[in-house]
Amino acid sequence: MSIIAHLSDPHFDGSERALARSRRTMAYLRGCDVDVILVTGDLTDHGDVKEYEQVKAELVADVPVLLLPGNHDDRAAYRKVLLGDDGTAPINQLRRAGGALFALCDSTIPGKHEGLLAPETLDWLRGVLAEAEEPVFVCLHHHPIRVNNPLLDSIRLRNPDELAAVVSASSTVAAVLCGHAHAAAAATFAGLPLVAAPGIFSTTRLPWTTTDELAWSNTFDRDDVPGLVFHVLEDGQLTSHFRSVPS
Ligand SMILES: [Fe+2]
Ligand SMILES: [Fe+2]
Repeated sequence: MSIIAHLSDPHFDGSERALARSRRTMAYLRGCDVDVILVTGDLTDHGDVKEYEQVKAELVADVPVLLLPGNHDDRAAYRKVLLGDDGTAPINQLRRAGGALFALCDSTIPGKHEGLLAPETLDWLRGVLAEAEEPVFVCLHHHPIRVNNPLLDSIRLRNPDELAAVVSASSTVAAVLCGHAHAAAAATFAGLPLVAAPGIFSTTRLPWTTTDELAWSNTFDRDDVPGLVFHVLEDGQLTSHFRSVPS
């Protein structure tokens, strides 16, 4: 049995608020028996080196902590602080933890908020899936489906069909996991489970829950508590539990 704690969008921005929400989440997880912690992007708010130094100091645990970039991240600063290398190539990483493989796909387009899996990333994922013998979680920041908030949907993954073709050609994908939506959401994608983790930093408002006209200035609820998902993979069955982080 594998237990994956899936969180997303901590948006470290140097503020006490962002720091406190991530610390609260990581403190909760230190009391949980999980195999791996996955953070699906937007680690920082501005992609600054100082923000990545906070990420490096705070997102630590006795189990592997898997990180991937989001649209608020910066490849060069991410690489410098978190990976100790240079360059701006897509940050695609393959990690093994808890009896599963995690294909961490960089879905960012430098300078833009929408997402795209570049040809080199799709080729890399194809290669990973062709050789995989364990269950594979395909992880990316941008949601490849609509999440029913028009603002967030305007910056979703631009080439979901290409991702669908790659994951459909494999028989080893357990699920597709994403962030970016700042919304706990479950769907299907290419016949597979797709789960978006809630945002640590804030929660997206849904149009039918408010009489306000949603704009970027009011679409994120910063008062909602941070949340996460526990994915349990047992005998080929995936069950995803959505939880608020206790205060
Ligand atoms: Fe975000
Ligand atoms: Fe994002």
